[in-house]
Order: sequence, then C-alpha cells, then structure tokens
Amino acid sequence: MLTDTNTGDKKFEKLSEIISEKRDQQGMLLPILQEAQNIFGYLDEEIQLYISEKTGVPLTTIYGVSTFYSQFTLKPKGQYRIEVCLGTACYVKGAQAILDELEKVLKVNVGQTTKDGKFSLNAARCLGCCGLAPVMKINDEVFGAVKPSDIKNILKRY
Ligand code: FES
Repeated sequence: MLTDTNTGDKKFEKLSEIISEKRDQQGMLLPILQEAQNIFGYLDEEIQLYISEKTGVPLTTIYGVSTFYSQFTLKPKGQYRIEVCLGTACYVKGAQAILDELEKVLKVNVGQTTKDGKFSLNAARCLGCCGLAPVMKINDEVFGAVKPSDIKNILKRY
C-alpha cells in the first residue's frame, strides 16, 4: 500500500520513472536502490515492495541487497544524525555515559530516531579525532571532551 501524502506520491512517481528507465538494463537493481535511497532517504518495506512489484525482482533479493550494503538504511533517519564514538580512546574517557545520557534525553535507544524525526542516535568506532576524546558528532559538527552534563546544551543548538 502506497503512502497517501502528496510528497510521498511525488517521490513514488519519481522512483517509477527511474525504474522504467533502468528496468531492462543489466545489473539495474543496485542503481535503482541507490536512487530510491536518494529520493526517500531510506528503504523501508513499502519501498522495497514497490521496487519488487515494478521490477519483478523477488522481495527477498531486494531485502538482501538493502541489508548487505552499509550505504542503505532501512528506517527513516533523523534530520540530525548524532554519532557517539565508542572507540577505545573515547570509551576509556567515558563515552558510554554520554551515549546513556543521549538515550535518556532523546528517549530513544542507539540506532533509533526520535519520534519527531529530528535526531537519530548512532554509535561509531572511531571518528578520527581521538585527541578530543570523548567525541560526538552531529551531522558534520564535532564536539570534543564532552561530558554527560553538556548534552542538553549541545542539543539545544539544533
Ligand atoms: S576513539 Fe573516538 S575519535 Fe578515535
């Protein structure tokens, strides 16, 4: 069942055009999924089913490809993507407490998006700035030497 919002319909229309263009090309599935990810920002079951119906590719294959490549995400992402580094340098300086505080304040678990779609919370291995540990990022902005008590003020900026 397709989404009934106008924006959603427009997105599916665009996807339909892309599928019509690429359907008969060899190796079309990956480019179609990439375009769908660009249009919607994620590939949920509804989108996967739509692609399956339009291309004739089994849903299990589409699901397999969507989960194999890390470039694809199956759930809507938040407007702001928070990444908390749990790499060694950050971990020993208290990164877990920062993640716990973010889960508490945002009322989500790691890997989830807030109900209003504003923030998604993720853990990362190493953000490449270990000297600033513990580190978190919101989209491209890096915050260093973060303390759990800083979290509310940091989030207020967004
Ligand atoms: S371990 Fe956290 S930035 Fe490298």
